[in-house]
Amino acid sequence: MAHVLLGASASVAVYKACDLASKLTQRAHVVRVILTARAAELVNPQLFEAVTGQPAHVDEFGAARHAAMDHIELARWGDVLVIAPASADLVGRLANGIANDLLTTVSLALAQNKPRLIAPAMNPVMLLAPAVQRNLRQLREDGWRVLEPDEGTMACGDVGPGRLPEPVRIADVLESMLVR
Ligand SMILES: Cc1cc2nc3c(=O)[nH]c(=O)nc-3n(C[C@H](O)[C@H](O)[C@H](O)COP(=O)(O)O)c2cc1C
Repeated sequence: MAHVLLGASASVAVYKACDLASKLTQRAHVVRVILTARAAELVNPQLFEAVTGQPAHVDEFGAARHAAMDHIELARWGDVLVIAPASADLVGRLANGIANDLLTTVSLALAQNKPRLIAPAMNPVMLLAPAVQRNLRQLREDGWRVLEPDEGTMACGDVGPGRLPEPVRIADVLESMLVR
């Protein structure tokens, strides 16, 4: 059993994050979800609270605040961080050490010895854009395990790499990282 921080950003694949949260909870992990503000426009945080039984976070300012400094509290609480799905935007912010929302700030505040997994999901043209490839390389160098996206037909109709892998696979990879 682990304390899992599950981050999700505003990709069309964010609906799978709910299934991932549910599967990890069923596997006896305690899951706290952090959504970007844009992700919370696509899917309501309350849904994650319902499947995990834990608070879901979007912001740490004002009424949204849970503790004195949610970013430190959450980073200390988590044994492992998984971000699925990760948008091109989030990948870029993480690769450049930008901490302008709760999810990116928690990612920076997470101790270096804790495993971190990221699953990018986006249109194939976006995925293969030099800036995105450069940012993914940077994340690998910085100690992230980057899960290769699946190939297939995207929501937009394009065919190629960029699909978020199925939640059961993400959960398996995450657990293999915990064992190590
Ligand atoms: C319905 C919808 C689906 C989107 N899907 C993706 C996606 O799969 N991957 C991606 O990188 N961006 C996608 N975007 C664009 C991102 O939402 C946008 O870049 C946003 O600024 C990302 O914010 P965040 O990283 O803070 O969540 C989508 C936008 C919309 C409106």
